[in-house]
Amino acid sequence: DASDIEKGTYDHFMLKEIDEQPIVIRNIIQKYQHEDGSTRLDADIRAAMQQADRIYVIAAGTSYHAGLVGKQLLEQVANKPTEVHIASEFLYNMPLLSQNPLFVFISQSGETADSRGVLVDVKKKGHRTLTITNVPGSTLSREADFTLHTFAGPEIAVASTKAYTAQMAVLTLLAVDTAYAAGRTLDFDPIQELGIAANAMEALCNQKDEFEKIARDYLSVTRNAFFIGRASDYYVALEGALKLKEISYIQAEGFAGGELKHGTIALIEDGTPVIALATNEHVNLSIRGNVQEVVSRGAAAVIISMEGLDQEGDAVVLPRVHESIAPLVSVIPTQLIAYYAALHRGCDVDKPRNLAKSVTVE
Ligand code: AGP
Repeated sequence: DASDIEKGTYDHFMLKEIDEQPIVIRNIIQKYQHEDGSTRLDADIRAAMQQADRIYVIAAGTSYHAGLVGKQLLEQVANKPTEVHIASEFLYNMPLLSQNPLFVFISQSGETADSRGVLVDVKKKGHRTLTITNVPGSTLSREADFTLHTFAGPEIAVASTKAYTAQMAVLTLLAVDTAYAAGRTLDFDPIQELGIAANAMEALCNQKDEFEKIARDYLSVTRNAFFIGRASDYYVALEGALKLKEISYIQAEGFAGGELKHGTIALIEDGTPVIALATNEHVNLSIRGNVQEVVSRGAAAVIISMEGLDQEGDAVVLPRVHESIAPLVSVIPTQLIAYYAALHRGCDVDKPRNLAKSVTVE
């Protein structure tokens, strides 16, 4: 059938979509940057960002995890106070809103009912809305005031991969545009760094054997696994755990490195896999301390670090990229490890049980 043709030489859409990520990022740069280096965003979106005194990001699942990284970018690059909320909780637990909020919905499908519930509500209250989506004709796109397209191409696998990195790339562009429009000068060029990240992603996609081996050695029989990280590595830990659990059915949890000792470390036994993300320079010593804590209790640690921060014995050393966009790169090993773990355990990688590609019920 048609879906077999689209898969080409790949056994699964997920692997194909993982491999497409470097191209997707380069494509996004092209779509959103003029030849002279300036950003190409609708004047209306630019104005809405300038007028907003606070950004409220609303999303679910993987898109929520992209939002967490987006908050860091919007605050650090664009100096915009930003909050990130899980769509299904927002209406029950609404924060006090600022004077001029802008609501940013992040949704691959643009059809997620939980996010739409919030959109309908805040629109009724007269607030401005922007949807970042992979499907421009989708409900969330049509109903919001503005849309930013993630240009990732159709994502078929239930487990989101290229849509997630595309969302973070578009959030980077949005942050840069907002910064420049406000006359800020940046001490690095985030768009150039995105290009460097795309190359790093490509290098990692060419090292699949390594990730297959990690999956085989650490995850083929285990019942559970932990992902830990600090700062933005923590957000990737959350995403890595979600990806692993949804396709391999291994009970996986993402934790802030320092939080484990407040309870969860009780679960560490002999051989419990702990995947530690260690790409953030300012927390490198602390996360390595956390790894020591779990290893001394028997954990089998897999450290994903970055050139310049690496130590002997690290399982994966990522090419050096700028800290603010490191999640685009550090997530690749976690996607591939999840893919191979699911494959080794005989799971239906593209269509995991109990899950739908877009969740259109509340
Ligand atoms: C990701 O792998 C999941 N399948 C899921 O968490 C997804 O990201 C979530 O349902 C949100 O979907 P959306 O981006 O289409 O709104």
